[in-house]
Amino acid sequence: MTQTSKPAGKRLFVKSYGCQMNVYDAERMADALAPEGFAGTADVADADVVVLNTCHIREKAAEKVYSELGRLRVLKGERAARGLETTIVVAGCVAQAEGAEIQRRMPAVDLVVGPQNYHRLPALLERSRNGPVVDTEFPLEDKFDHLPAPSREAMRARGVSAFVTVQEGCDKFCAFCVVPYTRGAEVSRPVARVLADVERLAGAGIREITLIGQNVNAYHGEGPGGGDWTLARLMSRVAEVPGIARIRYTTSHPLDMDDALIALHRDLPQAMPYLHLPVQSGSDAILKAMNRKHDAASYLTIVEKVRAARPDIALSSDFIVGFPGETDADFEATMALVEAVGFAAAFSFKYSQRPGTPAADARDQVPEPVKAERLARLQERLEQQRQAFNAASLGKVMPVLIEREGRHPGQLVGKSPYLQGVHFDATGTGLRIGDIADVEIVALSTNSMTGRLVGSRASAA
Ligand code: 5AD
Ligand code: SF4
Repeated sequence: MTQTSKPAGKRLFVKSYGCQMNVYDAERMADALAPEGFAGTADVADADVVVLNTCHIREKAAEKVYSELGRLRVLKGERAARGLETTIVVAGCVAQAEGAEIQRRMPAVDLVVGPQNYHRLPALLERSRNGPVVDTEFPLEDKFDHLPAPSREAMRARGVSAFVTVQEGCDKFCAFCVVPYTRGAEVSRPVARVLADVERLAGAGIREITLIGQNVNAYHGEGPGGGDWTLARLMSRVAEVPGIARIRYTTSHPLDMDDALIALHRDLPQAMPYLHLPVQSGSDAILKAMNRKHDAASYLTIVEKVRAARPDIALSSDFIVGFPGETDADFEATMALVEAVGFAAAFSFKYSQRPGTPAADARDQVPEPVKAERLARLQERLEQQRQAFNAASLGKVMPVLIEREGRHPGQLVGKSPYLQGVHFDATGTGLRIGDIADVEIVALSTNSMTGRLVGSRASAA
């Protein structure tokens, strides 16, 4: 595949919904189509190929796709009137879950492609010229082996922080969750492949790597000398790649939070003091019904151990309120767990019935107004905790990884180790994107912090 053998000058627009895995996949789809002469555009009206990279996790997320497809159908008609072809692609987890049903509901869709088949995109697009195409198989080959690597420029244009998928899919089967069905069984990428990606990214100036997987701490990829490596071992090796100053990982399951991984938060300077560890509920009865395979006490024990290893760690979580059978007392148990932990950040949702998942058919569904009330209470408390966590940063000096220029001349914007956005004035300092600067936090606003530069360094936080 050379650039010259294909018609050049085509435009690609990708819109991603849902999790970080989808953000990463969107980049890899762009990489897959770059050798075909596709360049990205931020203007959907300008795009020859529009990809909706969809999320199926909650009903709302899935329904958004259809309203967006309605708009795209109009756009396709307008472009056709100007003699321009538009190919509409539905990718991601709705594609996987609904397949041909999407084209039945929305005939303007040319191609439906599941998350395991992005490496086939060029061929699938070609085929879709002759009529609607659906590819939602779980192929035997690994898509990552067939996806072309991005160019140095493409990598750098995406910023100094990059995601690398190390694990995909899930074998845990939480009773509410579609992931085991949309992303399939758990698969870990071999260590050598992950390292090749990290080295390529580091070579392009990327400073921070977030290892991602639906169950990332269940990572068990094949090591270079045979035998499986754990996530802890992989992270230690990634830390040896020159230029990589920060390592994060998401999303973890409490069951796979082993002692070696916890110890890394103490021993590995590049391991950032941030842990996203979804608990979903604080009620043992609900956790059992959710098939979470842990209880509230074991979650709190992990939190204790993690804090013993790294006292300043920022903890983040996911919560579901109104899971079938959730009583007021169950919900209070969730509030009590929140109180006991003190989260720096959190995502919380009303339970959404997902077709094909065990909990969807439960008879004791919680009424919508009850869910709404519980969610409001939970979110209010979590927001207070977030603000308290940020307020505690005031007056502290922290290393900030510089990500971009700010709105004001001389201003730079970056991230603290705790994923807080920090902006500060760097006029005349020569600091650049990708540098790590020591910044004292002097003021807070709702979603960012103002800092004052006190020093800079180029190594780990
Ligand atoms: N309803 C509501 N929230 C859900 N999540 C997953 N499935 C559902 C569902 N059916 C939430 C969980 C998970 C996060 C990614 O989305 O909290 O951790
Ligand atoms: Fe949504 Fe889950 Fe798919 Fe991510 S893996 S896009 S969260 S359904």
